[in-house]
Amino acid sequence: MRTRKLGSQGLEVPAIGLGCMGMTIQYGELDDEESKATINHSLDIGGSLLNSSDAYGKGKNESLIGEAIKGRRNDVILNTKFGNVTNPDGTGGTNGRPEYVKEACEASLQRLGTDYIDIYSQHRVDTEVPIEETVGAMARLITEGKVRYIGLSEAAPETIRRAHAEAPISCVETEYSLWSRDVEAEILPTCQELGISLMPYAPLGRGFLSGTIKSADDLIEGDRRSAHPRFAAENIEENNKKVAVIEKIAEGRGFKPAQVAIAWVMAQDEMIVPIPGTKHRKYLDENVRAIDIALVDDQLKQLSEAFPAGETAGERYPAGQMKRLGL
Ligand SMILES: NC(=O)c1ccc[n+]([C@@H]2O[C@H](COP(=O)([O-])OP(=O)(O)OC[C@H]3O[C@@H](n4cnc5c(N)ncnc54)[C@H](OP(=O)(O)O)[C@@H]3O)[C@@H](O)[C@H]2O)c1
Repeated sequence: MRTRKLGSQGLEVPAIGLGCMGMTIQYGELDDEESKATINHSLDIGGSLLNSSDAYGKGKNESLIGEAIKGRRNDVILNTKFGNVTNPDGTGGTNGRPEYVKEACEASLQRLGTDYIDIYSQHRVDTEVPIEETVGAMARLITEGKVRYIGLSEAAPETIRRAHAEAPISCVETEYSLWSRDVEAEILPTCQELGISLMPYAPLGRGFLSGTIKSADDLIEGDRRSAHPRFAAENIEENNKKVAVIEKIAEGRGFKPAQVAIAWVMAQDEMIVPIPGTKHRKYLDENVRAIDIALVDDQLKQLSEAFPAGETAGERYPAGQMKRLGL
């Protein structure tokens, strides 16, 4: 599999990773066996980069990965996260306290069944704790041999700079796709300047850009996406007008719309390593093939023009969660 550099610290990763969140968080029907088969198939074809978080299913996602990779630790580049916590009242919170970083890492190691994490990232920035203190604790984990590289997620440019001044940051994981292009204004240029890789999550717009969600009825009851404004019935209809452009380009070249959406993200910079999520081997194969798709300039332009930044119908998260982004 083609590789890309993750940051400037020497780590080489597959040019595309596997997002594992949907294996435990309701994005359609869950299927543990197919999820584990998908992870193993990914490793078989060189897709070693697995993305998780201790927040996904409150640890269940890491446990599932731990089971799936038993006996194959050397085939895997494990990327997991900490700090996106649930408050006692059930609302979402953050925890970036140094003692918590250590504690969370130990728990993740246990669930993953390993003694080191390749890339350990802060899932959400804790504004109550100076970023230098959180990153300082992450850097100590490197010294202890428990972590190899560190990253951030949904961090503001200033936070990225301060963190990187404290200890080298290899990647920033943030939503980036045709329908979520806000990062182009400041975050992507900051990463480019500092030699940090951007790891776009939800490069398929949580599945929407694959053209498989044409109405709210395409989401099963309890699907997490139903709570996201972009998946409100009227917004699905509006946003699908733009998906037609992806579908047309895909059809013209014999590709799947999902592959075109991934190829567009990958074409934005060589330091971009997207992590599309799937729990199906069939989708994984399609997505990995997107690495070799070269969209021509005119197609890239058509796509960029069809999806102007900031013009997607509906916010990308429910209101409560929007407050914890870009801090
Ligand atoms: N740092 C953060 O705050 C954060 C937030 C969200 C996600 N993430 C990470 O990023 C990863 C990717 O994001 P995501 O999973 O939310 O969204 P995504 O990658 O944009 O889309 C995933 C959805 O697309 C579907 N899909 C995948 N490949 C497809 C294909 N070829 N054709 C049709 N449908 C396809 C999947 O279906 P199936 O599930 O049915 O296979 C799933 O429903 C997550 O798994 C997670 O690891 C990080």
